[in-house]
This record gives sequence, structure tokens and C-alpha cells, in this order.
Amino acid sequence: LVAVSARSPKPDLPLDGVRWDDDPLALARAADIDCVVELMGGAEGPALALAEATLAAGKPLVTANKALLAAHGLALARAAEAKGVALRYEAAVAGGIPVIKALLESLAGNRIDTVAGILNGTCNYILTRMAAEGLSFEAVLADAQKLGYAEADPATDVDGWDSAHKLALLAALAFGAPPDLASLSVQGIRSITPLDHRFAAELGYRIKLLGVATRSDDGVEARVAPALLPVGSPLAGVDGVINAVSVKGAPVGTVTFVGPGAGGDPTASAVLGDVVDVARGAVGLPFGRAADALRPWPLLPVARRRGAWYVRLCVSDQPGVVAGIAGILRDEAISIESLLQFGRSRTDSVPVILITHDVAEDALFRAVDAIAGLPFVWDKPFCLRLQPS
Ligand SMILES: NC(=O)c1ccc[n+]([C@@H]2O[C@H](COP(=O)([O-])OP(=O)(O)OC[C@H]3O[C@@H](n4cnc5c(N)ncnc54)[C@H](OP(=O)(O)O)[C@@H]3O)[C@@H](O)[C@H]2O)c1
Repeated sequence: LVAVSARSPKPDLPLDGVRWDDDPLALARAADIDCVVELMGGAEGPALALAEATLAAGKPLVTANKALLAAHGLALARAAEAKGVALRYEAAVAGGIPVIKALLESLAGNRIDTVAGILNGTCNYILTRMAAEGLSFEAVLADAQKLGYAEADPATDVDGWDSAHKLALLAALAFGAPPDLASLSVQGIRSITPLDHRFAAELGYRIKLLGVATRSDDGVEARVAPALLPVGSPLAGVDGVINAVSVKGAPVGTVTFVGPGAGGDPTASAVLGDVVDVARGAVGLPFGRAADALRPWPLLPVARRRGAWYVRLCVSDQPGVVAGIAGILRDEAISIESLLQFGRSRTDSVPVILITHDVAEDALFRAVDAIAGLPFVWDKPFCLRLQPS
């Protein structure tokens, strides 16, 4: 280690023989520095400036910054290739889990059809405790903030954006495309209620925030959203702050990686692995193929998206409700695997849960909009995808 920089001086940091630079860009310029490690964060500003300056100076860059790569990955990959230097980012996705290297190297001979992951420890911690203790999202979030598992401003995590940055990188590697955050649909976990966890459990599922990218002959579908996973599937049992990534490809089949997704030590493990690779002379291509050979994926049109859904309705407990809902579903050719009503009430609403068979997504949303307009339906229906195991 030659030199360190941060926003504010760190008098307590033991820096024996290590230079302190107030200006991070000085690290890119210094003649005695061979490799720069960027751990500031942020898609723009100083992190981008340091990444650009480092690569322009012909020095390898190691970064943990998923937001930076999701936004500028293609341009930075081009800059690294132009100078023939490494751009490494193992810590940017799922912390200590070596999934970037697995996709770049060990699984490089496969056609990857799906990457699916629990990519945010904060959300997984919150959902795990909601399910286990019957608590609300708000109650667990407040506790997680006290315990240091959630940031004071939790939006990037709980609204799904941190997972989206990571999924953009995984999908790019899996499908040979430039990272493209704008092509992802992103939904967080704020609307999940303790009732959803209870119903999911009674039906044999667990609710997890998943990042899923799937490729078919018709195009790619990439989304971050809470989803129902069958109990017993590899990702359903991943609890607390642990992360997991499942990769389905041919000829390998399905490979699942599980491990610590954040925190100082797991992140350091990934960063140091990259630094060791650089020291050993590894260069490689940041996204596994030349930047100019990365092709944006065609998006799967909504009308071609199919899947099974969980729909939570809040309805008056009166005759004719099921017939009214069933009529709309029939008109959209949506078939139902189960329909459950929980509880009875003359004065209040009661929850009704539908589980559909595989249906066209546009038909489901048309049906849900029509159901929302029925006089006995109290709230906007809430929908979650069922993730196949
Ligand atoms: N935390 C994790 O578990 C984890 C895991 C994987 C990847 N990452 C990624 O690692 C990066 C850092 O995350 P973190 O959680 O370690 O953040 P953090 O605790 O806020 O640390 C950021 C560091 O960068 C410095 N910094 C920030 N802005 C700067 C600026 N404008 N100029 C100079 N220095 C600046 C800060 O200096 P001061 O201390 O002076 O403010 C601080 O030392 C992010 O890209 C994040 O996504 C984090």
C-alpha cells in the first residue's frame, strides 16, 4: 500500500510508511502507484473522475462501486481496453461471493439463461424478520437502523436500486450486453405486509427481494421485485443479511452461490482478490468480451412475459364477490390455482388471495385494474410474481 485518500483526514488510521493524499486524483497521477482501488461510492463525481483518470493513466482499477459501473460500465470498459489494463469489480456484486469471477471465467463456456439473486442484505434481513416475527416493515426497518443493518436513509436499499445496480452487472456478464440500468424494472419492499408473509407461508412460499434476469429467444426480461419462492428452493432458505446468486445455464445446469454480501471483511476479501489478480498480471476484459462486441439485449415485450402471480385483494365480505372477480379473470383467460379468503367480517374488509397459473403479464394487469374498479374491492390489488424454483 503506497497512499490513501478520503474526504476528511483520518488521524486515528495507522498509516506508518503510507502516504496521505487529500486529493484522490493524485493517486491516479502518482508515478509510484501501479493500481488504484476506488471505494468512495457514487455513480458520478469524484468516483467517476478517479476511475477515468486512473484508466487514462494506463493503471489498473479495482472498485467496489456498483452504481458507477451500472451507469458508466461500458465507457470505463472501453477506457480500460484502450490502455490494455484491468478493470476489476468483484466486490461490487454480492460482497464476498466470487460471482463476477465465476461468470467471467468458470462459467464462460455456458449459455446463461437466468441469473437470479438475493442481492441486498438489508432487504433480506428486513423480510426475514418480518416473516419470522410477524412485524411490520416500518418496525423492522427502525430496528435494523439501530443495529447498523440499514442506513439512516434506506431508500437505495429498500426501494430496490442497490439490487438493480448489481443485477445490471450480472445481466451484462451473463448475456454479453453492456450494463443497462434503464432496461430494468425496479420495485422495492415497502409495500410488503406481515399478512403477505403469513399467506405466503400458508401457501408454501417465502417472500424475498429478487433480482432476476432471464433470456429467451424472444428477448431479455430483467426485474428487481419482491417475489414468492417455493419453500425448499435454494434461494428461499437464504435468510438475514446473507446474499445468494443462482445461475442457470447450459451445459452446467443451476449453480447457486451463497455467502456474506456486505460488510468490511467480505468486501475486503473480494477487493484483495482483485488486487492479487492485478499483481499476478491479469488483464482480461471487464465484461468478458470486447466492449465493442457487447450487444444491448432486445427487451421481452410485456405481452410476451408469462408467469404465475400472487394477488392480494381487500374486499367486502358479501355474496357475489368471488363471482365478480372470477368473471373478470375468465374474460382475460387467466386461470386460478387457488383462491383463499382469510377471516370473516360483516363490517370490515377481508383479504382474498389469488394464485394464478402461468398467465400473460399484460392480461394480468388488465384484470387487476378491472378488479380494482369493482364496488366491493377496497384497495388497489397488490401483486407479486411467483419465482419458479
Ligand atoms: N459497505 C459495504 O458492505 C459494501 C459492500 C460492497 C461494495 N460496497 C461499495 O463500496 C463503496 C463504499 O461504500 P462504503 O459502505 O464503504 O461507504 P462509506 O462507509 O461511506 O465510505 C466511503 C469512503 O469514501 C470516502 N469518500 C466519499 N466521498 C469522497 C470524496 N468525495 N472524496 C474523497 N473521499 C470520499 C469517505 O471518506 P470520509 O470517511 O472522509 O467521509 C469514506 O472513507 C460503495 O461503492 C459501495 O457500493 C460497499
